[in-house]
Amino acid sequence: MPLTPNLHALQQACTGKTPQQILKHAMETFGDQLWLSFSGAEDVVLVDMARKINPGVQVFCLDTGRLHPETYRFIEEVRNHYQLDIEVLLPEAEAVNTMVRNKGLFSFYQDGHQECCGLRKMAPLRKKLATVGAWATGQRRDQSPGTRSQVAEVELDTTFASGDSPLYKFNPLAGMSSEEVWAYIRMLELPYNKLHEQGYTSIGCEPCTRPVLPNQHEREGRWWWEEAAHKECGLHAGNLEDNR
Ligand code: ADX
Ligand code: SF4
Repeated sequence: MPLTPNLHALQQACTGKTPQQILKHAMETFGDQLWLSFSGAEDVVLVDMARKINPGVQVFCLDTGRLHPETYRFIEEVRNHYQLDIEVLLPEAEAVNTMVRNKGLFSFYQDGHQECCGLRKMAPLRKKLATVGAWATGQRRDQSPGTRSQVAEVELDTTFASGDSPLYKFNPLAGMSSEEVWAYIRMLELPYNKLHEQGYTSIGCEPCTRPVLPNQHEREGRWWWEEAAHKECGLHAGNLEDNR
């Protein structure tokens, strides 16, 4: 049975609260209908917090087939460190084959990342989210002044909702700064993706991520050949609604 709690009540319970309070509320409300999405970057903080509240927390990650070797190693490290069965979601092979056959392996540099992200990230995510009541992400407001400054602690996900049931999206780290995230990682000596030691701040797929220079904003290394306002791959398309 899909759960349909009142959004306003959820917002009242979560807005301005600590990440742990938000996670706890999400877990108590949705039980095993809640899944965490882990990208293999500094959102390990979300996994750590959730695991401490509920060791049975369910986590998935999207394996686009184009992640850095360091990210695959890190996902495995997190799996072992937390004794966690991370579900790794793969894209539809035939759809990817067709795109690559027609356009090659790097078509996104010519005609934008939407098609490739659509097949490698959005489609597997859509399939997964059709089976869940709520998901939690590691999005933060300070990640991007252009697209993430309005990220709410909890919202309805209209991009991935399917059928008649609403899909709820929690962003427990919404109010955390990068500084706080890294203080948490260092203080608790959490494992982290080794790319962070090479100047990478935000980490996505290998061909579409590069390190940033001092004082560049953290998402400037993502899809750097595209306009800043479009630096969302579709996972969080709702963030772009105000920018269209
Ligand atoms: S993205 O949309 O630009 O790729 P970003 O890398 O900032 O997103 O990550 C924000 C949040 O989106 C992550 O904390 C995670 O919850 C989710 N996310 C991003 N990439 C993945 C992935 N490959 N697998 C699972 N979740 C992801
Ligand atoms: Fe494809 Fe780049 Fe999107 Fe990864 S980030 S799915 S490689 S376009």
